[in-house]
Amino acid sequence: MNLLEQIKENAKKYNKRIVLPEGTEERTLKAADILLNEGIAQIILIGKPAEIQTLADKFELKNIGKATIIDPENHPKKEVYADMLVELRKSKGMTKEEALKLVTNPLYLATLMIKNGDADGEVAGAKNATGDVLRPALQIVKTLPGISVVSGAFLLLTDKPEYGENGLIVCADCAVLPNPTAEELAQIAVATAGTAKAIAKIEPRVAMLSFSTKGSAKNELVDKVIKATELAKQMAPDIMIDGEMQADAALVPSVGSSKAPGSPVAGKANVLIFPSLEVGNISYKLVQRIAGIEAVGPVLQGMAAPINDLSRGCSVSDIVNLVAITVNQAASK
Ligand code: ACO
Repeated sequence: MNLLEQIKENAKKYNKRIVLPEGTEERTLKAADILLNEGIAQIILIGKPAEIQTLADKFELKNIGKATIIDPENHPKKEVYADMLVELRKSKGMTKEEALKLVTNPLYLATLMIKNGDADGEVAGAKNATGDVLRPALQIVKTLPGISVVSGAFLLLTDKPEYGENGLIVCADCAVLPNPTAEELAQIAVATAGTAKAIAKIEPRVAMLSFSTKGSAKNELVDKVIKATELAKQMAPDIMIDGEMQADAALVPSVGSSKAPGSPVAGKANVLIFPSLEVGNISYKLVQRIAGIEAVGPVLQGMAAPINDLSRGCSVSDIVNLVAITVNQAASK
């Protein structure tokens, strides 16, 4: 069984409630039908019930009747959620009038449902940009205790067992924080190790990547990664973390042993931490397109509840996979 099949099988055991705010979007609806048919999650669709039913009939979807459908304009908890939103955002000047408008926005409504304990996780982004999915999540669900940074990891599924964990590499941040400080980079490293354990079920060996290995280059960008490595080790002394190192030193045993002798990570890293979002986002897209590596994610990490963002070019199976991952994250909370 491959990793994604394993993740879906695990999800079936957990019976989590996942809210899909883009309930009238074609790929989302088709994915919901598969998820319900296979019992991967309980599905909550946000959208006009009549519209969802018409679309389900048009696409000949037989399982949408098993979903809970929430009409964003008209549902019994509108007032409760609006009051909660005012309370959460009063320091930012949120008024009741504004809140009553925002709770009809499916992306806000989904995060308020999670905050109120009415859903365990969310997947969105098939038709909304990353920032629009993330902003309500960051404002309402916020970060885990002790964590101030949300970041996005990818699972790279290569067919080269000599790299990572039998071909699997978990890497971050590829999606959220443009220019992390050393402290933020350390948090990203620890959170990504957590994702590797929770989703990929592997023992993380974390490489803090740079264009320098163990002092081979001097630059303030290298200094940031060295400091982040120290901080990450202090934050999580039980996790194998090392750096700074170049990507080849992280992944190739002969290069690792010559450039970073004695490192517990060099040459066998299965978690790669990029020094900035530019590096992370460009790198995963390059290996995905040029090397044809399957890249699953972004899996958002550091949030108090699992909320994941799709690419607008996603397929139905991308949505099914990300919901299964979200269920696994909810179960490991
Ligand atoms: N972690 C935790 N909290 C955060 C983070 C973060 N990484 N970023 C912002 N916040 C919080 C802020 O503190 C703020 O909280 P507050 O309102 O309670 O004070 C709230 O979120 C809103 O933050 P803003 O900075 O006002 O919101 P903004 O719209 O500027 O940005 C966002 C947040 C959307 C995450 C932005 O940083 C962004 O657009 N990042 C890049 C996303 C992107 O385009 N990625 C590439 C595409 S994804 C892909 O290719 C896979």
